[in-house]
Amino acid sequence: MKKFTKALVALVAAGALALTGCGNSERDGSGTQSSGAAGGFDKGALIGVALPQKTSENWVLAEQLFKDGLKEAGYESDVQFANGGVSEQQNQIQAMVTKGAKVIIVGAIDGSQLGTQLKAAKDAGITVIAYDRLLKNTDAVDYYVAYDNFKVGQLQGTALLEGLKARKGSGPWNIELIAGSPDDANSQVFFDGAMSVLKPEIDKGTLVVKSGQTSFSQVSTQGWKAENAQKRFDTIMSSTYAGATELHGILSPNDTLARAAMTSVKAAGKALPVVTGQDSEVESVKSIMAGEQYSTIYKDTTALVKHSITMVGDLQSGKKPEVNDDKSYNNGVKVVPAYLLEPKIVTKDNAAEVYKDDKTLGPLTKA
Ligand code: BGC
Repeated sequence: MKKFTKALVALVAAGALALTGCGNSERDGSGTQSSGAAGGFDKGALIGVALPQKTSENWVLAEQLFKDGLKEAGYESDVQFANGGVSEQQNQIQAMVTKGAKVIIVGAIDGSQLGTQLKAAKDAGITVIAYDRLLKNTDAVDYYVAYDNFKVGQLQGTALLEGLKARKGSGPWNIELIAGSPDDANSQVFFDGAMSVLKPEIDKGTLVVKSGQTSFSQVSTQGWKAENAQKRFDTIMSSTYAGATELHGILSPNDTLARAAMTSVKAAGKALPVVTGQDSEVESVKSIMAGEQYSTIYKDTTALVKHSITMVGDLQSGKKPEVNDDKSYNNGVKVVPAYLLEPKIVTKDNAAEVYKDDKTLGPLTKA
């Protein structure tokens, strides 16, 4: 039955293409294989981009890059943030379907709450690309484009260990763990990546999680909100680290939460621990250069948006977008073909090198 439906959809799609004259090859002038290829759509088509809340700088950067990049490539765009939460994002995606978008790129707040809207997109023949965060428990997602999230976690775990060795003597070291928001599909992956490095050291006793909070649910941070991480750390500092007990390291999944935890530690009058991060936010890069936060991760948003727009271009011309991982991202229903970019770890030692081509961050590394 499923096969039959698929064949029917393909037939109808091919017919629709024939009716519209497959006429893009002349218009786009790109010389790419457009006419006759399965799919394909008009060059000036509407592309929807549904972004989550502005929980970190990368999302804010993505907004403008999508607007500019899609315009430059000749598309109409509808780029939306959902600061009001999941139902706002559901409405935005539904509206993009109604307006006739050809591709919808989704950075989900909660990747498992969009099933109905994504099904509507699929039924309308729209291609759905999961951006940065995987869309879960739905077959209505076609591609995933992101930095390698597990690798991000591994790099964070490794940086924490290296920072402890470099700054905090010979150990054993007291550490605390922070994870991202439980509704973001990335959070568990970051945490698992980091724990693949840290857990063996915890088991050996080289690392001691003094609070005893080691499970994802105990250490996650609802909404990726700084105030939630800070509240949790205020409690930990006034209980576990009351008196002379030192906190040597904090695994933080991103820069916003790293700075929140450091605020707590400072308020408790303790020496700064080795703290990891992610996103290369301006405040954190300054902090790294000042010798406070230990590390961050560079996931150049420009490259991620650029690759998403390349995928749109391939789809427009009826070409299959390039993927480099077609086995890792099982979303519960299907394995989503992914294009993954390489994240880079950044410490004070390599910041100038990593950011040398970044117009905003590069100058911050020059004393
Ligand atoms: C992104 C991170 C970001 C976090 C909070 C995650 O899904 O991958 O880069 O720090 O969301 O916005």
